[in-house]
Amino acid sequence: MPARRSLSRMETSSPSVPNTASRREFLRTGSVASAMAASGLVGVQQASGEETTSKSALETINIGIIGTGGRGGGALKDSLTINSNVRLVAMADLNAGKCHSLRRSLARRFSDKVAVTDDKIYDGLEGYRRVLEDKDVDLVIQTTSPGFRPRHIAEAVDAGKHVFAEKPSCVDPAGYHICLAAHDKAVEQGTAVVTGTQYRRQTNYVELMKRIHAGEIGDVVSATARYCSNGIWYRGRQPGMTDVEYQTYNWMHFVWLSGDQICEQAVHNIDAMAWLMGENPISAFGSGGQFTRPQDSEMWDNVSVDYEFSGNRLLSFMCRQLPRAASESGNVVYCTGGVAHIPSVNGTAQLVDREGKTIWSMKGNIGAAYQQEHKDLVDSIRAGKPIVELKQTADSSLIAVMGRLAAYTGQKVTWDFVSKESKLDLFPKDLTVDTKLPEPAVAAPGRTKLI
Ligand SMILES: NC(=O)c1ccc[n+]([C@@H]2O[C@H](COP(=O)([O-])OP(=O)(O)OC[C@H]3O[C@@H](n4cnc5c(N)ncnc54)[C@H](O)[C@@H]3O)[C@@H](O)[C@H]2O)c1
Repeated sequence: MPARRSLSRMETSSPSVPNTASRREFLRTGSVASAMAASGLVGVQQASGEETTSKSALETINIGIIGTGGRGGGALKDSLTINSNVRLVAMADLNAGKCHSLRRSLARRFSDKVAVTDDKIYDGLEGYRRVLEDKDVDLVIQTTSPGFRPRHIAEAVDAGKHVFAEKPSCVDPAGYHICLAAHDKAVEQGTAVVTGTQYRRQTNYVELMKRIHAGEIGDVVSATARYCSNGIWYRGRQPGMTDVEYQTYNWMHFVWLSGDQICEQAVHNIDAMAWLMGENPISAFGSGGQFTRPQDSEMWDNVSVDYEFSGNRLLSFMCRQLPRAASESGNVVYCTGGVAHIPSVNGTAQLVDREGKTIWSMKGNIGAAYQQEHKDLVDSIRAGKPIVELKQTADSSLIAVMGRLAAYTGQKVTWDFVSKESKLDLFPKDLTVDTKLPEPAVAAPGRTKLI
């Protein structure tokens, strides 16, 4: 098991930090176990966490970030707001300008928590490695486009860092297996991996799932999950961009980077439904197509998938991004004794009996859930019981991949196939900024092969 270097570093570099193990022991709390009990982290592991992995509340946890776009800024704000004694010390992005502008805006709001010097801002495809090599960094926030995620998580775990990794965890079966190995290694060595599936920590979701699982409206028969929105950004190619510069800039539209809408966005609903069902589906049968996307986009406009679960339970899932069409991003669960409504974002979750009477309801607060992820992560590190939830989100991400493959190929796809046999690996070999990428291609059911 690798020795954690950060404690000794903190002991020498921060004179105000007491360096006795007894103080660390004194400050260990039971907060992590109680947070997990109150959350949707079913089956999530807590790493064995030897004493050397814990950090007391008086020791600063140093954060590095990889990917300083929209969510990177959001995740940092969440962590710096909810956690005391944390500070940002290193940043990487393909474009260093984004690090500089995020550092400026964060420094205005969190002057005592932003300590990134110019030499700790890294750019390019290899910049993330400098963050991982940085001995000052304890915790890495990973908010790049999803295609890089499995390899970045695995390297961060190998480097002994604690990780916050946005969803989805992977966009293909090869990435899934990288995540599973990284999960096991994190558990074994005692480092945390928390993932960006905030609904697992949203109190109305947590409470509703508890009530459904307790049988308050009978047995689950079926559910619908929808992520129907009005559209998504498109970032046009700028003169002089290489293929890699362009596709990583306009990443949403290339399947190796985003996994299409079903992985990138709708994985939130799929994850909630995996939590509801308590298992991965047996098979998926799907459909969809592309008719409004810009010319070189590989994304489909819509995907619909029927997922079959054990016990003859069915999940009817759909996602789409269609301008001017109706928006709907909630889930409905049909049970033998009533119906549960699980709306997205800040909507009110409800249990309704068979006569239509609301028997329970609770409003959502997604902002609090976003922050809770970062609190649980830091608390778990401080308690010496790092949370490792990567497998759970990798499973949900692979359920999304399974649905995409069913729709793209027009074939019935089983969990056994996608999790054990599929050889699909979308990540380009030997990627450099000058790698020539294949022409974008839109999947065509009946012609697109199931690999
Ligand atoms: N949990 C949520 O509700 C939620 C919300 C929004 C986004 N997200 C997720 O967050 C991630 C980022 O989304 P976003 O909206 O911030 O995208 P974005 O395009 O705004 O930002 C991504 C940033 O990552 C950088 N980047 C890409 N590849 C990189 C690499 N290899 N090394 C270093 N930097 C790299 C880009 O230059 C860009 O600045 C996605 O996985 C997305 O699904 C989650």
